[in-house]
This record gives sequence, C-alpha cells and structure tokens, in this order.
Amino acid sequence: MTVYDAAKPALFRLPPETAHRTVHELLAAVQDTRLEGVVADHYTVVDSRLRVDAFGQAFRNPVGVAAGFDKNAEIPNALAALGFGFNNDGADVVGERLAGADARVPVGVNLGKSKSTPNDEAEEDYLYTFERVRAGGDYFVVNVSSPNTPGLRELQERDRLESILGTLQDVGADPLLVKLSPDLPDAAVEDALEVVDDLGLDGVIATNTTTDRSDSLYGAAADESGGLSGAPIETEATDMVRFVAERTDAPIVGVGGVSDAEGAYRKIRNGASVVQLYTGLVFEGPGVARDINRGLLKLLERDGFDSVTEAIGADL
Ligand SMILES: Cc1cc2nc3c(=O)[nH]c(=O)nc-3n(C[C@H](O)[C@H](O)[C@H](O)COP(=O)(O)O)c2cc1C
Repeated sequence: MTVYDAAKPALFRLPPETAHRTVHELLAAVQDTRLEGVVADHYTVVDSRLRVDAFGQAFRNPVGVAAGFDKNAEIPNALAALGFGFNNDGADVVGERLAGADARVPVGVNLGKSKSTPNDEAEEDYLYTFERVRAGGDYFVVNVSSPNTPGLRELQERDRLESILGTLQDVGADPLLVKLSPDLPDAAVEDALEVVDDLGLDGVIATNTTTDRSDSLYGAAADESGGLSGAPIETEATDMVRFVAERTDAPIVGVGGVSDAEGAYRKIRNGASVVQLYTGLVFEGPGVARDINRGLLKLLERDGFDSVTEAIGADL
C-alpha cells in the first residue's frame, strides 16, 4: 500500500477541481526544491532502452502527461521528477511561464480555440495563442478534438483542418501535431490523415476524450455529459492508434486509458512512438510513470526487443 493509496479515498471525496488543485499545490511545493531531487531519484527509471526520438524530440522514456493535467504550465519539472518523459500542457496564457520554466523534459503545448471565437475565425484564434506560447514550447499540438468546446470538432473537417494547420505552419509552428477525436468516423480520420501527409505534419495524437457512452458504463458517470476518459476508452483509443498507423508514416502519440505497462506496450506495438496519460495518473498516483517504465523494460526483454523503438508498430 502506497501513501497515495492511503490518501486516495479522502482525495476522491473532494470535488474533482479541489482534488486536482491539492495535488497540483503539493507538486508545485516540491518543484525546484531539494525534495525534487529526492522525488526524482525515487520515481525516475534511467535506461537507454526507454529513449525514443520522435518529431525532433528526444524523450528519455515514452511515457508523458497528457494535455490538461498541467493546463497552466505550473509544474513541468515536478512532473519530470515523477519520472515522466515529457509534459503536455493545455495552453492559454502560459507562454511567459513556460519560457521561464527551463523544463527538463520536452514540453508540448496544446493549442485550443476559445469557446467564444466562431469557427470561421478559428485561424486567428489559434495563431494568437501560438504567438504567445511559441517561445516556451518544444512542440505544438492543434487540439480540434475537445468535446467541451461546442463545435470545435467540426474543425477536423478536411478544408478547415488544412487551413488552420497551414496557417500555423506558415508562421513557423514546428514541430506541429494534430490531436484527433475517437468519435470521428473512419472516412473522416482518413481525410484528416491526408491533410497530415499533404502538409508534412510532424505527428498525430490519438486520442482525445469521447462523448460516446458505452453500454458497459454504469452508475452516475454513465449519465454525465462531456468527455469520457480512462479505462472505458482504452480499446477504442488503441484501435485508433492502429488505424492511424496503418495509414500514415507520421509518428503517433497514443493516448486514452493508459494506466499500466501492458496498456502502454499495446499502444506502442500498435504503432504509437510514445504514449500519454491523464486519468491513469489520477487513479494510479505518482508512481505510475515509474511502474510503466519498469514494466515496459520487462516486456521488451520478454519479447526480445532491444529498445522501445524496436517495438513500435510490432503488431502492424
Ligand atoms: C479534466 C481533463 C482535462 C483535459 N484537458 C485537455 C486539454 O486542455 N487539451 C487537450 O488536448 N486534451 C485535454 N484532455 C484530454 C486528455 O489529454 C486525454 O487525451 C484524454 O483524457 C484521454 O487520456 P486518458 O484516458 O489517459 O485520460 C483533458 C482530459 C481531462 C480528463
């Protein structure tokens, strides 16, 4: 039983925002203190077999924090100390903070459109955000897949996507990735991937949360609206990673329901170069990246791979 296991019941009784804030404040208190080094020693798995190079970034391991966990870019180094290979922020006015952060892991910045901007002015909105965060991000992600911004997912449509991504490329957004929804029909994913290939985009993130409610979901959560994440979307997200991998050579970031080494490994074998998680961190606690990385090393050894890189797409 870990300290996090003991604290979880109390934490989970709090309203989600309060629980999130509490954990954030703890991590912020540790960041840039001597304790950060102690935490890093405890949680970081150092092994060159875990290193992955993708879209111009050297990731020390393939396990990253998904966008939204550190929305305001407050704790990149505390998350690095928990052994993650990279951090991914949902960005708004975080540019200055990021530029001054000197993060120890590659930091991706997810660009979202504000709810108040109509879709036909989306280009200017993404451009505005990009200009504010460009100095602090190591790579950039166009989020056209969050279900919580009304109408946003319509921007995944071919022409809209091409225009937004092209606009950002023209002003030097590089490396540039796009994050897709698991709710897109196959034909729409194929359209989006054509845009990815036509523009020579640097990667695809699959996937965001879903608005779909599976029959197996029960209890109060089944009736809640908004994006569903975690275990219920794991299979669908992995299937989408595979679908994307079969259709493009662009590197893939696999996201959705990753909470252990087996799940991370499944995404990697189905074509993901690296994975990210959000919900798994909430449920498994601070040891999740360490446990996944240790488990990955065992799985690589079991299957005779010399590195994570060798295992990427092994099941395709
Ligand atoms: C509370 C919450 C906030 C999120 N905020 C963002 C965001 O700002 N931008 C984004 O691209 N994805 C956001 N996501 C989606 C996650 O990055 C991820 O794609 C999704 O949760 C699936 O991964 P998981 O099953 O590991 O949670 C958010 C998810 C959650 C649960």
